[in-house]
Amino acid sequence: MILDTVAFMSTLERRVGLTDEDKAILKSQADWGLLIAPEMADHFYTYLGRDAEMNAILNDGNERIHRLRETFIQWFHEMFTGIDDWGQAYADRRWKIGLVHVRIGIGPQHVVPAMATVIDQVEKRLQVDGKSQALKDALSRICMIDLAFIEQAYVEVCSDAVLRETGWTQGLFRRLIATGARSM
Ligand code: HEM
Repeated sequence: MILDTVAFMSTLERRVGLTDEDKAILKSQADWGLLIAPEMADHFYTYLGRDAEMNAILNDGNERIHRLRETFIQWFHEMFTGIDDWGQAYADRRWKIGLVHVRIGIGPQHVVPAMATVIDQVEKRLQVDGKSQALKDALSRICMIDLAFIEQAYVEVCSDAVLRETGWTQGLFRRLIATGARSM
């Protein structure tokens, strides 16, 4: 594994400000999370299905969309339970989700709007069910952490692949990227 997932998780927690109070609120609402998860999955896959490229990936003729619905529900619920109190198992699971998307070749530009759809739909449901601002804030924070894991996987996998293939050092690779970016 190329990323220290637990260290990355605690950096993100600090950065987005996910507190122990947020975790307690999420845990206390885990049943509600599971209750609304199928509806969130419906919105999510309806959104993805509207894009021809993503629709083709989702409907690969191998029951992928059905598998995905189940994994989405589990993923959504885990944001509330924290699996192991947002520890090693949680961080490894989020890292693995990122790797799966890199492997399939889903570009990172698809992931940010997809997460925005989740947040948007959750907010609507929070309002309908009269849930607190504190729950809304906690959910937004954990969604951002999960999103950061997926996005980081692209960077880590790409740079690891280049470094392995070429034998370059991290320093040289960074300089080449900076030079390339300056010339664009
Ligand atoms: C908020 C962003 C997203 C979340 C939270 C998410 C969540 C997940 C999860 C939990 C898995 C299962 C990973 C595993 O097998 O361990 C998965 C797999 C997958 N996701 Fe996503 N996903 C997101 C964005 C997308 C987007 C934008 C697409 C584009 C079509 C997509 C398509 C897929 C596909 C094709 C798989 C593999 C399914 C399979 O064949 O088993 N996902 N996703």
